[in-house]
Amino acid sequence: MTLVRGTFLDTPVAGELRTLDGVLQVEDGVVTARGPAEDFPAADVDLRGGVVLPGLVDTHVHYPQVRAIGGLGMPLLDWLDRCALPEECKLAAPAYASAVATEFVDGLVRAGTTTALVFGSHFATAVDALFTEAARVGLRVTSGLVVSDRLLPEDLLTTPDRSVEEGAALAARWHGVGRSRYAVTPRFSLSCSPGLLEAGADLLGSLDDAFFTSHVNENPAEVAAVADLHGGYVDSYDRYGLLGPAAVLAHDVHPTDAELGVLAARGTAVAHCPTSNAALGSGLFPLRRHREAGVRVALGSDVGAGTGFSLLKEGLQAYFAQQLLGPEGVPLTPADLLHLATVAGAEALGLADVGHLSVGMRFDAVWLRPPEGSTLDVVLRSAAGPDDALAKVFALGGPADVAGVWVDGDRVRG
Ligand code: GUN
Ligand code: ZN
Repeated sequence: MTLVRGTFLDTPVAGELRTLDGVLQVEDGVVTARGPAEDFPAADVDLRGGVVLPGLVDTHVHYPQVRAIGGLGMPLLDWLDRCALPEECKLAAPAYASAVATEFVDGLVRAGTTTALVFGSHFATAVDALFTEAARVGLRVTSGLVVSDRLLPEDLLTTPDRSVEEGAALAARWHGVGRSRYAVTPRFSLSCSPGLLEAGADLLGSLDDAFFTSHVNENPAEVAAVADLHGGYVDSYDRYGLLGPAAVLAHDVHPTDAELGVLAARGTAVAHCPTSNAALGSGLFPLRRHREAGVRVALGSDVGAGTGFSLLKEGLQAYFAQQLLGPEGVPLTPADLLHLATVAGAEALGLADVGHLSVGMRFDAVWLRPPEGSTLDVVLRSAAGPDDALAKVFALGGPADVAGVWVDGDRVRG
Protein backbone atom coordinates (compact mmCIF):
# COMPACT_ATOMS: atom_id res chain seq x y z
CA MET A 1 0.00 0.00 0.00
CA THR A 2 1.21 3.50 -0.89
CA LEU A 3 -0.12 6.83 0.35
CA VAL A 4 0.34 9.66 -2.16
CA ARG A 5 0.06 13.30 -1.04
CA GLY A 6 -0.67 16.04 -3.54
CA THR A 7 -3.16 18.37 -5.21
CA PHE A 8 -5.20 16.10 -7.47
CA LEU A 9 -7.37 17.50 -10.26
CA ASP A 10 -9.70 15.30 -12.31
CA THR A 11 -13.05 15.22 -14.11
CA PRO A 12 -15.06 12.09 -13.30
CA VAL A 13 -18.14 14.02 -14.44
CA ALA A 14 -17.86 15.83 -17.79
CA GLY A 15 -17.51 19.57 -17.38
CA GLU A 16 -16.98 19.45 -13.60
CA LEU A 17 -13.52 19.94 -12.16
CA ARG A 18 -12.88 18.04 -8.92
CA THR A 19 -10.00 18.93 -6.59
CA LEU A 20 -8.46 17.08 -3.70
CA ASP A 21 -5.67 18.62 -1.69
CA GLY A 22 -4.98 15.47 0.26
CA VAL A 23 -4.06 11.81 -0.05
CA LEU A 24 -4.75 8.91 -2.39
CA GLN A 25 -4.27 5.40 -1.02
CA VAL A 26 -3.02 3.06 -3.77
CA GLU A 27 -2.99 -0.74 -3.46
CA ASP A 28 -1.90 -3.08 -6.28
CA GLY A 29 -2.13 -0.18 -8.70
CA VAL A 30 -5.70 0.75 -7.72
CA VAL A 31 -6.93 3.78 -5.75
CA THR A 32 -8.58 2.29 -2.65
CA ALA A 33 -9.23 5.43 -0.59
CA ARG A 34 -8.96 9.21 -0.94
CA GLY A 35 -9.46 12.12 1.38
CA PRO A 36 -7.92 14.95 3.39
CA ALA A 37 -4.39 14.38 4.69
CA GLU A 38 -5.52 14.35 8.32
CA ASP A 39 -7.51 11.16 7.67
CA PHE A 40 -4.34 9.22 6.80
CA PRO A 41 -0.95 8.47 8.38
CA ALA A 42 2.10 10.23 6.91
CA ALA A 43 2.29 9.84 3.12
CA ASP A 44 4.95 7.67 1.44
CA VAL A 45 5.12 9.82 -1.70
CA ASP A 46 4.95 13.60 -1.49
CA LEU A 47 3.85 15.29 -4.72
CA ARG A 48 3.09 18.70 -3.27
CA GLY A 49 4.08 21.64 -5.45
CA GLY A 50 2.32 21.71 -8.81
CA VAL A 51 -0.67 19.47 -9.55
CA VAL A 52 -1.36 15.80 -10.16
CA LEU A 53 -3.64 14.92 -13.09
CA PRO A 54 -4.90 11.54 -14.30
CA GLY A 55 -2.54 10.06 -16.88
CA LEU A 56 -3.27 11.59 -20.28
CA VAL A 57 -4.89 9.47 -22.99
CA ASP A 58 -3.80 9.95 -26.62
CA THR A 59 -6.31 8.32 -28.98
CA HIS A 60 -4.37 8.91 -32.20
CA VAL A 61 -0.59 9.05 -32.58
CA HIS A 62 1.74 7.59 -35.24
CA TYR A 63 4.77 5.67 -33.98
CA PRO A 64 6.84 5.85 -37.22
CA GLN A 65 6.47 9.63 -37.50
CA VAL A 66 8.47 10.88 -34.51
CA ARG A 67 11.25 12.11 -36.78
CA ALA A 68 8.72 13.62 -39.23
CA ILE A 69 7.41 16.15 -36.67
CA GLY A 70 7.65 19.72 -37.94
CA GLY A 71 6.95 19.29 -41.66
CA LEU A 72 4.94 22.45 -42.08
CA GLY A 73 3.37 24.18 -45.06
CA MET A 74 1.70 21.27 -46.88
CA PRO A 75 -1.83 19.90 -47.07
CA LEU A 76 -2.41 16.25 -46.12
CA LEU A 77 -1.69 14.38 -49.36
CA ASP A 78 1.49 16.37 -50.12
CA TRP A 79 2.65 15.99 -46.52
CA LEU A 80 2.18 12.23 -46.72
CA ASP A 81 4.18 12.04 -49.97
CA ARG A 82 6.98 14.34 -48.94
CA CYS A 83 7.31 13.90 -45.17
CA ALA A 84 5.54 10.97 -43.58
CA LEU A 85 5.78 8.12 -46.10
CA PRO A 86 9.53 8.41 -46.91
CA GLU A 87 10.23 8.31 -43.16
CA GLU A 88 7.87 5.36 -42.64
CA CYS A 89 9.73 3.37 -45.33
CA LYS A 90 12.85 3.51 -43.13
CA LEU A 91 11.20 1.34 -40.47
CA ALA A 92 11.78 -1.69 -42.71
CA ALA A 93 15.21 -1.83 -41.03
CA PRO A 94 14.75 -3.46 -37.60
CA ALA A 95 17.51 -1.44 -35.91
CA TYR A 96 16.01 1.82 -37.17
CA ALA A 97 12.54 0.73 -36.02
CA SER A 98 13.82 -0.17 -32.54
CA ALA A 99 15.49 3.22 -32.18
CA VAL A 100 12.30 5.01 -33.23
CA ALA A 101 10.20 2.81 -30.90
CA THR A 102 12.38 3.92 -27.99
CA GLU A 103 12.11 7.60 -28.95
CA PHE A 104 8.37 7.27 -29.44
CA VAL A 105 7.48 5.57 -26.15
CA ASP A 106 9.83 7.91 -24.30
CA GLY A 107 8.22 10.91 -26.01
CA LEU A 108 4.75 9.86 -24.89
CA VAL A 109 5.77 9.22 -21.30
CA ARG A 110 7.72 12.48 -21.08
CA ALA A 111 4.52 14.26 -22.14
CA GLY A 112 2.52 12.58 -19.36
CA THR A 113 0.65 10.22 -21.66
CA THR A 114 -0.02 6.89 -19.98
CA THR A 115 -2.45 5.34 -22.48
CA ALA A 116 -2.35 5.54 -26.27
CA LEU A 117 -4.04 4.17 -29.34
CA VAL A 118 -1.01 4.04 -31.59
CA PHE A 119 -0.96 3.92 -35.37
CA GLY A 120 1.73 1.30 -35.95
CA SER A 121 4.02 0.67 -38.88
CA HIS A 122 3.47 -1.10 -42.20
CA PHE A 123 6.26 -3.52 -41.15
CA ALA A 124 5.42 -6.33 -38.72
CA THR A 125 8.91 -6.39 -37.17
CA ALA A 126 8.58 -2.66 -36.42
CA VAL A 127 5.17 -3.15 -34.77
CA ASP A 128 6.68 -5.92 -32.67
CA ALA A 129 9.44 -3.49 -31.62
CA LEU A 130 6.81 -0.96 -30.53
CA PHE A 131 4.88 -3.46 -28.38
CA THR A 132 8.16 -4.70 -26.90
CA GLU A 133 9.25 -1.20 -25.91
CA ALA A 134 5.81 -0.20 -24.58
CA ALA A 135 5.76 -3.34 -22.42
CA ARG A 136 9.28 -2.68 -21.17
CA VAL A 137 8.41 0.87 -20.12
CA GLY A 138 4.90 0.04 -18.90
CA LEU A 139 2.82 2.20 -21.26
CA ARG A 140 -0.80 1.16 -21.82
CA VAL A 141 -0.89 0.73 -25.58
CA THR A 142 -3.34 -0.43 -28.25
CA SER A 143 -1.72 -0.76 -31.67
CA GLY A 144 -1.44 -2.85 -34.78
CA LEU A 145 0.01 -3.41 -38.22
CA VAL A 146 -0.89 -0.57 -40.60
CA VAL A 147 -2.07 -1.95 -43.94
CA SER A 148 -2.51 -0.56 -47.45
CA ASP A 149 -2.54 -2.13 -50.91
CA ARG A 150 -2.71 0.88 -53.21
CA LEU A 151 -1.51 4.46 -53.70
CA LEU A 152 1.47 4.37 -51.30
CA PRO A 153 5.14 3.63 -52.09
CA GLU A 154 5.63 -0.02 -53.09
CA ASP A 155 7.54 -0.90 -49.88
CA LEU A 156 4.51 -0.01 -47.77
CA LEU A 157 2.02 -2.21 -49.65
CA THR A 158 0.68 -5.61 -48.65
CA THR A 159 -1.99 -8.04 -49.85
CA PRO A 160 -5.23 -9.07 -48.12
CA ASP A 161 -3.85 -12.54 -47.28
CA ARG A 162 -0.56 -11.23 -45.95
CA SER A 163 -2.32 -8.55 -43.91
CA VAL A 164 -4.36 -11.19 -42.08
CA GLU A 165 -1.43 -13.53 -41.62
CA GLU A 166 0.90 -10.87 -40.17
CA GLY A 167 -1.85 -9.19 -38.17
CA ALA A 168 -2.97 -12.48 -36.63
CA ALA A 169 0.61 -13.34 -35.66
CA LEU A 170 1.12 -9.95 -33.97
CA ALA A 171 -2.23 -10.21 -32.18
CA ALA A 172 -1.35 -13.71 -30.96
CA ARG A 173 1.84 -12.30 -29.45
CA TRP A 174 0.46 -9.08 -27.97
CA HIS A 175 -3.35 -8.82 -27.78
CA GLY A 176 -4.43 -8.93 -24.13
CA VAL A 177 -0.86 -9.40 -22.93
CA GLY A 178 -0.05 -7.11 -20.00
CA ARG A 179 -1.26 -3.62 -20.91
CA SER A 180 -1.16 -4.25 -24.69
CA ARG A 181 -4.08 -4.75 -27.06
CA TYR A 182 -4.34 -5.17 -30.82
CA ALA A 183 -5.99 -2.75 -33.27
CA VAL A 184 -6.82 -3.62 -36.88
CA THR A 185 -5.46 -0.59 -38.75
CA PRO A 186 -6.04 0.10 -42.45
CA ARG A 187 -4.17 3.36 -43.09
CA PHE A 188 -7.18 5.11 -44.68
CA SER A 189 -9.71 3.74 -47.12
CA LEU A 190 -8.03 5.78 -49.88
CA SER A 191 -5.00 3.45 -49.70
CA CYS A 192 -7.06 0.26 -49.34
CA SER A 193 -8.93 -1.90 -51.86
CA PRO A 194 -12.32 -3.33 -50.90
CA GLY A 195 -10.60 -6.72 -50.56
CA LEU A 196 -8.12 -5.39 -48.00
CA LEU A 197 -10.88 -3.75 -45.92
CA GLU A 198 -12.80 -7.02 -46.04
CA ALA A 199 -9.71 -8.88 -44.86
CA GLY A 200 -9.48 -6.39 -41.98
CA ALA A 201 -13.06 -7.25 -41.02
CA ASP A 202 -12.18 -10.97 -41.06
CA LEU A 203 -9.20 -10.39 -38.77
CA LEU A 204 -11.25 -8.19 -36.44
CA GLY A 205 -13.97 -10.83 -36.28
CA SER A 206 -11.42 -13.49 -35.35
CA LEU A 207 -10.12 -11.58 -32.30
CA ASP A 208 -11.91 -11.05 -28.97
CA ASP A 209 -12.18 -7.38 -27.95
CA ALA A 210 -9.73 -6.06 -30.53
CA PHE A 211 -9.93 -2.46 -31.71
CA PHE A 212 -10.38 -0.90 -35.12
CA THR A 213 -8.79 2.41 -36.08
CA SER A 214 -8.23 4.48 -39.22
CA HIS A 215 -8.61 8.00 -40.63
CA VAL A 216 -11.76 9.73 -41.91
CA ASN A 217 -12.84 13.03 -43.49
CA GLU A 218 -9.59 14.86 -42.81
CA ASN A 219 -9.06 17.01 -45.90
CA PRO A 220 -11.37 18.02 -48.79
CA ALA A 221 -9.09 16.66 -51.57
CA GLU A 222 -8.79 13.36 -49.68
CA VAL A 223 -12.56 13.16 -49.13
CA ALA A 224 -13.15 13.73 -52.87
CA ALA A 225 -10.63 11.01 -53.81
CA VAL A 226 -12.29 8.55 -51.40
CA ALA A 227 -15.68 9.41 -52.93
CA ASP A 228 -14.34 8.43 -56.37
CA LEU A 229 -12.90 5.17 -55.07
CA HIS A 230 -15.42 3.96 -52.47
CA GLY A 231 -18.34 6.41 -52.26
CA GLY A 232 -18.97 7.73 -48.72
CA TYR A 233 -15.97 7.86 -46.38
CA VAL A 234 -17.65 6.58 -43.20
CA ASP A 235 -19.52 4.03 -45.29
CA SER A 236 -16.23 2.77 -46.77
CA TYR A 237 -15.56 1.24 -43.32
CA ASP A 238 -19.13 0.69 -42.16
CA ARG A 239 -20.11 -1.49 -45.12
CA TYR A 240 -17.58 -4.12 -43.96
CA GLY A 241 -18.81 -4.02 -40.36
CA LEU A 242 -15.60 -2.34 -39.16
CA LEU A 243 -17.35 0.33 -37.06
CA GLY A 244 -18.66 -0.24 -33.55
CA PRO A 245 -17.95 0.90 -29.98
CA ALA A 246 -14.42 -0.52 -30.24
CA ALA A 247 -13.53 1.73 -33.17
CA VAL A 248 -11.80 5.13 -33.28
CA LEU A 249 -11.63 7.24 -36.45
CA ALA A 250 -9.18 10.14 -36.53
CA HIS A 251 -10.02 13.70 -37.64
CA ASP A 252 -13.56 13.83 -39.08
CA VAL A 253 -13.18 17.53 -39.87
CA HIS A 254 -15.56 17.36 -42.85
CA PRO A 255 -18.41 14.92 -42.03
CA THR A 256 -21.89 14.96 -43.48
CA ASP A 257 -24.82 14.92 -41.06
CA ALA A 258 -25.68 11.41 -42.26
CA GLU A 259 -22.14 10.24 -41.44
CA LEU A 260 -22.36 11.69 -37.94
CA GLY A 261 -25.61 9.75 -37.53
CA VAL A 262 -23.86 6.51 -38.52
CA LEU A 263 -20.92 7.13 -36.13
CA ALA A 264 -23.37 7.84 -33.29
CA ALA A 265 -25.45 4.75 -34.07
CA ARG A 266 -22.34 2.53 -34.10
CA GLY A 267 -20.92 4.07 -30.90
CA THR A 268 -17.70 4.79 -32.79
CA ALA A 269 -15.49 7.52 -31.30
CA VAL A 270 -13.66 10.29 -33.14
CA ALA A 271 -10.08 11.28 -32.28
CA HIS A 272 -9.92 15.06 -32.60
CA CYS A 273 -6.36 16.10 -33.51
CA PRO A 274 -6.25 19.89 -33.26
CA THR A 275 -2.58 20.74 -33.87
CA SER A 276 -2.49 18.44 -36.88
CA ASN A 277 -5.68 19.99 -38.26
CA ALA A 278 -4.10 23.43 -37.93
CA ALA A 279 -0.62 22.45 -39.19
CA LEU A 280 -1.94 20.76 -42.35
CA GLY A 281 -4.68 23.37 -42.81
CA SER A 282 -7.25 20.56 -42.65
CA GLY A 283 -9.87 22.81 -41.05
CA LEU A 284 -11.63 23.61 -37.78
CA PHE A 285 -13.17 20.59 -36.07
CA PRO A 286 -17.00 20.73 -35.90
CA LEU A 287 -17.24 19.70 -32.24
CA ARG A 288 -20.73 21.09 -31.79
CA ARG A 289 -22.09 18.97 -34.65
CA HIS A 290 -20.44 15.86 -33.18
CA ARG A 291 -21.90 16.58 -29.75
CA GLU A 292 -25.35 17.33 -31.12
CA ALA A 293 -25.29 14.09 -33.12
CA GLY A 294 -24.18 12.13 -30.04
CA VAL A 295 -20.74 11.13 -31.39
CA ARG A 296 -18.08 10.49 -28.75
CA VAL A 297 -14.97 12.69 -29.15
CA ALA A 298 -11.53 12.39 -27.53
CA LEU A 299 -8.11 13.93 -28.24
CA GLY A 300 -5.21 12.75 -30.36
CA SER A 301 -1.78 14.30 -30.88
CA ASP A 302 -1.48 12.85 -34.41
CA VAL A 303 2.30 13.05 -34.25
CA GLY A 304 3.97 13.63 -36.75
CA ALA A 305 1.41 15.88 -38.50
CA GLY A 306 0.60 17.04 -34.98
CA THR A 307 3.35 19.19 -33.52
CA GLY A 308 4.30 17.19 -30.43
CA PHE A 309 3.24 14.59 -27.88
CA SER A 310 1.73 16.89 -25.26
CA LEU A 311 -2.02 16.57 -24.85
CA LEU A 312 -1.88 19.87 -22.95
CA LYS A 313 -0.97 21.53 -26.23
CA GLU A 314 -3.73 19.59 -28.02
CA GLY A 315 -6.22 20.74 -25.40
CA LEU A 316 -5.16 24.36 -25.84
CA GLN A 317 -5.35 24.08 -29.63
CA ALA A 318 -8.80 22.45 -29.34
CA TYR A 319 -9.86 25.48 -27.34
CA PHE A 320 -8.40 27.86 -29.98
CA ALA A 321 -10.19 26.04 -32.81
CA GLN A 322 -13.56 26.32 -31.08
CA GLN A 323 -12.93 30.01 -30.41
CA LEU A 324 -12.16 30.56 -34.09
CA LEU A 325 -15.45 28.93 -35.06
CA GLY A 326 -17.29 31.79 -33.34
CA PRO A 327 -20.95 31.00 -32.68
CA GLU A 328 -20.56 27.58 -34.30
CA GLY A 329 -17.85 26.62 -31.81
CA VAL A 330 -18.16 25.08 -28.35
CA PRO A 331 -16.68 27.38 -25.69
CA LEU A 332 -14.45 24.85 -23.90
CA THR A 333 -13.63 25.32 -20.20
CA PRO A 334 -10.43 24.05 -18.52
CA ALA A 335 -12.49 21.16 -17.09
CA ASP A 336 -13.71 20.30 -20.61
CA LEU A 337 -10.10 20.21 -21.84
CA LEU A 338 -9.01 17.90 -19.02
CA HIS A 339 -12.01 15.65 -19.61
CA LEU A 340 -11.18 15.44 -23.33
CA ALA A 341 -7.56 14.57 -22.52
CA THR A 342 -8.40 11.89 -19.91
CA VAL A 343 -11.89 10.43 -19.34
CA ALA A 344 -13.09 10.90 -22.93
CA GLY A 345 -9.99 9.11 -24.22
CA ALA A 346 -10.36 6.25 -21.75
CA GLU A 347 -14.01 5.89 -22.75
CA ALA A 348 -13.14 5.93 -26.45
CA LEU A 349 -10.69 3.10 -25.77
CA GLY A 350 -13.17 1.12 -23.68
CA LEU A 351 -11.08 1.43 -20.51
CA ALA A 352 -13.53 1.82 -17.63
CA ASP A 353 -10.88 1.94 -14.90
CA VAL A 354 -8.62 4.75 -16.11
CA GLY A 355 -9.18 8.46 -16.82
CA HIS A 356 -9.83 9.81 -13.32
CA LEU A 357 -8.66 9.17 -9.78
CA SER A 358 -11.77 7.92 -7.97
CA VAL A 359 -11.70 4.94 -5.62
CA GLY A 360 -11.63 1.77 -7.72
CA MET A 361 -9.72 3.37 -10.60
CA ARG A 362 -6.15 2.51 -11.62
CA PHE A 363 -3.51 4.94 -10.40
CA ASP A 364 -2.40 6.28 -13.79
CA ALA A 365 -1.19 9.79 -13.07
CA VAL A 366 1.05 12.64 -14.14
CA TRP A 367 2.68 15.05 -11.71
CA LEU A 368 3.18 18.49 -13.20
CA ARG A 369 5.68 20.45 -11.17
CA PRO A 370 7.06 23.29 -13.27
CA PRO A 371 10.73 24.21 -12.89
CA GLU A 372 11.16 26.83 -10.20
CA GLY A 373 10.90 30.33 -11.62
CA SER A 374 9.36 29.20 -14.93
CA THR A 375 6.36 31.19 -16.06
CA LEU A 376 4.02 28.31 -15.24
CA ASP A 377 5.52 28.03 -11.76
CA VAL A 378 5.11 31.74 -11.15
CA VAL A 379 1.55 32.02 -12.42
CA LEU A 380 0.36 28.85 -10.65
CA ARG A 381 1.36 30.43 -7.35
CA SER A 382 -1.08 33.25 -8.01
CA ALA A 383 -3.91 31.12 -9.45
CA ALA A 384 -7.36 32.23 -8.31
CA GLY A 385 -8.51 28.64 -7.78
CA PRO A 386 -8.47 25.16 -9.34
CA ASP A 387 -10.13 26.17 -12.64
CA ASP A 388 -7.70 29.05 -13.06
CA ALA A 389 -4.75 26.79 -12.19
CA LEU A 390 -5.88 24.25 -14.76
CA ALA A 391 -6.30 26.95 -17.42
CA LYS A 392 -2.72 28.04 -16.72
CA VAL A 393 -1.54 24.42 -17.00
CA PHE A 394 -3.14 24.11 -20.45
CA ALA A 395 -1.86 27.52 -21.53
CA LEU A 396 1.75 27.04 -20.42
CA GLY A 397 2.35 23.39 -19.52
CA GLY A 398 4.35 20.87 -21.50
CA PRO A 399 6.80 17.97 -21.22
CA ALA A 400 9.34 20.14 -19.36
CA ASP A 401 6.87 20.32 -16.45
CA VAL A 402 6.32 16.57 -16.14
CA ALA A 403 8.05 15.53 -12.91
CA GLY A 404 6.61 12.03 -12.54
CA VAL A 405 4.39 9.55 -14.36
CA TRP A 406 2.63 6.43 -12.99
CA VAL A 407 0.81 3.57 -14.69
CA ASP A 408 -1.05 1.08 -12.48
CA GLY A 409 0.76 2.60 -9.51
CA ASP A 410 4.19 1.90 -11.05
CA ARG A 411 6.38 4.94 -11.50
CA VAL A 412 7.39 4.90 -15.17
CA ARG A 413 9.13 8.26 -15.13
CA GLY A 414 10.60 10.75 -12.67
N1 GUN B 1 -4.21 9.82 -43.49
C1 GUN B 1 -3.55 8.70 -43.91
N2 GUN B 1 -2.36 8.60 -43.30
C2 GUN B 1 -2.24 9.66 -42.50
C3 GUN B 1 -1.20 10.13 -41.62
O1 GUN B 1 -0.15 9.53 -41.47
N3 GUN B 1 -1.44 11.29 -40.96
C4 GUN B 1 -2.61 11.98 -41.09
N4 GUN B 1 -2.77 13.10 -40.40
N5 GUN B 1 -3.58 11.58 -41.92
C5 GUN B 1 -3.40 10.44 -42.61
ZN1 ZN C 1 -3.15 10.21 -38.24
